[in-house]
Amino acid sequence: MNNHPLLAALRVVGARGVARSVHYSVVRWLVSRRFRLPQPTGTPEPPGHGQGATPLAGGARFRFDRADLEIRFLAADLVRVTWGPGTLPVPYALAKTDWPEVPVGLREKAGRWVLASEALRVEVGLDGALQFLDPSGRVLRNDAPPLRRGEEVILRTALRQEEHVYGLGHRTVPLNLRGRTYQMWNRDPGAGHSPLDDPIYLCIPVSLAVHADGSYLVFYENSFRGTFTLGETAEAHFEGGALRYYVIPGPPARALERYTDLTGRPPLPPRWALGYHQSRWSYDTEAEVREIVDGFRDHGLPLSAIHLDIDYMDGFRVFTVSPRRFPGLAALARELLEREIRLVAIIDPGVKVDRGYDVFTHGERGEVFCQLPDGSLATAPVWPGWCAFPDFTDPRARAWWGRWYPRLLNLGISGFWHDMNEPAAFAAWGDPTLPDPVRHALDGRGGDHREAHNLYGFLENQAGYEALRALRPDARPFILSRSGWAGVQRYAWTWTGDIESTWRALRQTVATVINLGLSGVPYTGPDVGGFSGAPSAELYLRWLQLAAFLPFFRTHSAKFTPRREPWAFGTQALQIAREVLRLRYRLLPYLYTLAWEASRTGHPLVRPLWWPEAGNPALWDVQDAFFLGDALLVAPVLDEGARSREVTLPSGTWYEMGSDRAHRGPGRVALDAPLDRIPVLARAGSVLPMAGPPEGSAGETLALQVYRPDGSPGGGILYSDAGDGYGPGRLDHFTLHPDGGRLRIVWTTEGTYPFPYGEVDVHVYGLPVCRVTVDGGRVPCEHNRFRTGPFREASCEP
Ligand code: GLC
Repeated sequence: MNNHPLLAALRVVGARGVARSVHYSVVRWLVSRRFRLPQPTGTPEPPGHGQGATPLAGGARFRFDRADLEIRFLAADLVRVTWGPGTLPVPYALAKTDWPEVPVGLREKAGRWVLASEALRVEVGLDGALQFLDPSGRVLRNDAPPLRRGEEVILRTALRQEEHVYGLGHRTVPLNLRGRTYQMWNRDPGAGHSPLDDPIYLCIPVSLAVHADGSYLVFYENSFRGTFTLGETAEAHFEGGALRYYVIPGPPARALERYTDLTGRPPLPPRWALGYHQSRWSYDTEAEVREIVDGFRDHGLPLSAIHLDIDYMDGFRVFTVSPRRFPGLAALARELLEREIRLVAIIDPGVKVDRGYDVFTHGERGEVFCQLPDGSLATAPVWPGWCAFPDFTDPRARAWWGRWYPRLLNLGISGFWHDMNEPAAFAAWGDPTLPDPVRHALDGRGGDHREAHNLYGFLENQAGYEALRALRPDARPFILSRSGWAGVQRYAWTWTGDIESTWRALRQTVATVINLGLSGVPYTGPDVGGFSGAPSAELYLRWLQLAAFLPFFRTHSAKFTPRREPWAFGTQALQIAREVLRLRYRLLPYLYTLAWEASRTGHPLVRPLWWPEAGNPALWDVQDAFFLGDALLVAPVLDEGARSREVTLPSGTWYEMGSDRAHRGPGRVALDAPLDRIPVLARAGSVLPMAGPPEGSAGETLALQVYRPDGSPGGGILYSDAGDGYGPGRLDHFTLHPDGGRLRIVWTTEGTYPFPYGEVDVHVYGLPVCRVTVDGGRVPCEHNRFRTGPFREASCEP
């Protein structure tokens, strides 16, 4: 909202809400004083001198004067470093803890200990400095001896001058994270956020470094509040816990595979989730939801989901429905489902303190809520007023929370939007969350909020996901979460939160989404148009065009903002928006295939331009374009008034999507970008599977866009299944063999799911085709295009 934060708050939560937030800030301060936590004193100390080393399975243990070190290879290209003393993490982030033993010899060399696998060598200095080298002896990473002061731990790592660093979860900074300090503390910025605000909702202590001698990923398994400074050197600092981190050498694709081996792959979502979502804070009543859905139908706009923001609840009580606004929610959900439109309902973790409300009384009786050290309830104000917060670090609380989902599932809600789960609290000043001394179960180990805070949203998602899997074993859960931590990709999607409605925020979206993907979280996207303001028609359209190529495609806007349905900006904008939405639905076979790939590899759908060639510094800073999968290079328009833009091309030949016009990289090229389209390029040699008309219905056509290979073979894949559930799938492989002037397309299939398309429409770009034979028989070809059924081999000749 473009006014003073206090006025904005008054408008949203009212005078009582503001009074509560002042009250809470005082309470929070008092609680922190009363249950004072130990503060680190003295000077940070290094581990001292190395005393000895003992080999152990896959690694070794080292003793230092004041510390001990364990190094274990979990795989040849995955090494875990643990410095003690310090509390070890509860392994929430880890999806895999059982690793086969890796043979590594421990030896001594020139006053250092050396451990090596076939992919990585670690050298331990007698002062506790660590060096990570590739098998050819090139240094990937240099860690200084770690420092400890009380519970606090600090690790400094050398950075090369040219070294670029990416990741760290949800950030609103340029793509390369060098040159700033980042907080590791999930935070709701309250009245919305702008580029460069830090921290925000979802911090992940994982980063990918790229330099002249290679690239590697590092993940700090430490959820304590911390800071990362990426200046001349990198400094990771945590307020407590053992210093445990994992190093993974290798190019980004391999590193992400390993990292998601460790922290889990993003499961295949239901196919509908990749469609278009319309949201607003709030579509207030059933009548309004119907009006919106009818608007989409009447304007010929495809739609997959409508989101219900907080006003559907009864007084913002989670797991309730307002009997006044949504008296017939079940009937509404049924009616929408018949039109293939899903309802997604928001859920906030704060449970209203209200003795007449069963979720609260039941939770209080079951002692599932967070407590202060004296055993009293830890409460803080959120939308419903004073709330209690389930302690999701307690397995009992997770199971208890999961028991309430049937209330909404049984009314026909298909997806859940976990908001405010940093957890956010309304504080007039100070940290807008629970106080540090709040106690948490941490799965039996016990601890305080400094350690549990960053895990809070992650564990709410775990609770929700596991409940949905158990309650609806044949449906894939859809959870959208604002907060999370390392591994959150196993349970939820995220979005870029309450970003302002400005051109710079539109531009920021690209770097934010790429860095989230490099942090293991592939499913994300912005509130189209920005959350808090009133985008012009042009800004709205440019945002819509960008988001059409991002995994999560949703328009959402704050209360008191002007309406933001595609028809709210006039007829010309509506026409353009319609084409954008239709293009999104035509892209679904490709997007769904990428989603399937992500579930197998952990590769993000949206990738930086240096993804396939991390050794090319010319691409390290490109943050105004991205790859969507292997085939497409998307160059959104990010400047007001621009009707063309320059695009950096990686090496190879690039076709304007759906056209024979080709450009040769590397280099820069200026491309037209009229208001109705953004530049999208297809890689030579790719096969892009798209849906042809009638889109989104049984018997739709598979439209294969074939881009002539540059000389070497090319191809593409298509994954299909029922779109939900856990039944069989099929994988169609298309390989392109250039053969003199001829192009052969070879089609092979794996899997038992029946081919779901009625017809195949092949369009060849970059090669004039006159004569086409399909499995030995001639088929007519017009304008480089032929229609057939599934085939084994097609031959296209000039
Ligand atoms: C938070 C969410 C926003 C939502 C609002 C009301 O600000 O980030 O998306 O609309 O709460 O629930």
